[in-house]
Amino acid sequence: MLRTVRDMDLDNKRVLLRVDFNVPIKDGVITDETRIVEALPTIEYILAKPGTSLVVMCHLGRPAGDGTREPQFSVKPIAKRLSEKLGRPVQYIDDVVGDKVEAAAKALKPGEILFLENVRYYKAEKKNDPEFAKKLAALGEVYVNDAFGTAHRAEASTEGVAHLLPSAAGFLIEKEVKFFAPLLTNPEKPFVAIVGGAKVSSKIGVLESLLKTADTFIIGGGMAYTFLKAQGFEVGKSLLENDFIDTAKNFLAAAEKAGVKVLLPVDNVVASEFSENADAETIDSDNIPADKMGMDIGPKTIRLFSEAIIPAKTVVWNGPMGVFEFDKFAEGTKEVAMAVAECKGTTVVGGGDSVAAANKFGLTKKLSHVSTGGGASLEFLEGKKLPGIVALED
Ligand code: 3PG
Repeated sequence: MLRTVRDMDLDNKRVLLRVDFNVPIKDGVITDETRIVEALPTIEYILAKPGTSLVVMCHLGRPAGDGTREPQFSVKPIAKRLSEKLGRPVQYIDDVVGDKVEAAAKALKPGEILFLENVRYYKAEKKNDPEFAKKLAALGEVYVNDAFGTAHRAEASTEGVAHLLPSAAGFLIEKEVKFFAPLLTNPEKPFVAIVGGAKVSSKIGVLESLLKTADTFIIGGGMAYTFLKAQGFEVGKSLLENDFIDTAKNFLAAAEKAGVKVLLPVDNVVASEFSENADAETIDSDNIPADKMGMDIGPKTIRLFSEAIIPAKTVVWNGPMGVFEFDKFAEGTKEVAMAVAECKGTTVVGGGDSVAAANKFGLTKKLSHVSTGGGASLEFLEGKKLPGIVALED
């Protein structure tokens, strides 16, 4: 059972909170603040309790962690944005541990927030170093983790510290688990799993894991060509992982044995080069010319996929159907996203690219759940235990 912040006695406590504010920043401006917005319910809940104060820790990017303070990894602009979102002051401090930070934490008055620098400025963070975790634990009296996006990393601020203080999950982790966990155990049926993206190698874990619960798999994106090849089609210059043709064959055989349908592209938008301006034409999957590559699914495939998606009771979508970054090859991903949005069942979207696609086409509000985790949602779907969550379970 996951312990949540609701189960905790927070009154008059200094709460050490880990969030995933690893947000895209361009020229000092945050270009997508979803992860900040999604952590606000937990922050506001904690601060609404009598006498609480808050110490917030997060990471940004992957700094070297050797003591150099690469300015592009400073979380200072995030502290400012959080303050604007909350409409209250957030005190930024330029370090993570040590006497100065400890003194600032202990001096917090009820309702005050201290925002620490990037925890990954210290190598000890990634190593889940017990001494470093102890120093972090000294900053609070209870620990709340709401960093779903980093829950697949066993690091000092996500895992180590959870064992040193009374600890629980925030509302974001609770919500992510509520939507993802049933997909692996008892989704409402029919359950359609849409898996796309470039590589079979990075998605085979998800396919194998969901084989236990899915009724239909929809496979699109670059990875579909390895599956088409496994079925004996020629795929021209399309993305192909030769080392994974047998894996694809085995998966198709296992799905057939389990009575699980696998839908693959029946037609494709192909081009002669990987370019936004390449000439595009639509070709059936049994006719891909040797000098062309698949860039998107074609209209017959869109119809086939949408007819499976719309009536489903549960849909999970991870990975785009084509090169949706190029408008010319975005139609398949867009239409599939629209079918997911049209589905009246529970719809869960995970993984950076499919979330970006749902955003690009303005569909996020029509989906049941859009995950804040990239790697974390992938590992969850692979059936792996996420150490940041395991540490909060009884
Ligand atoms: C993410 O953006 O996926 C998380 O914040 C984890 O970041 P990481 O892959 O650098 O650990």
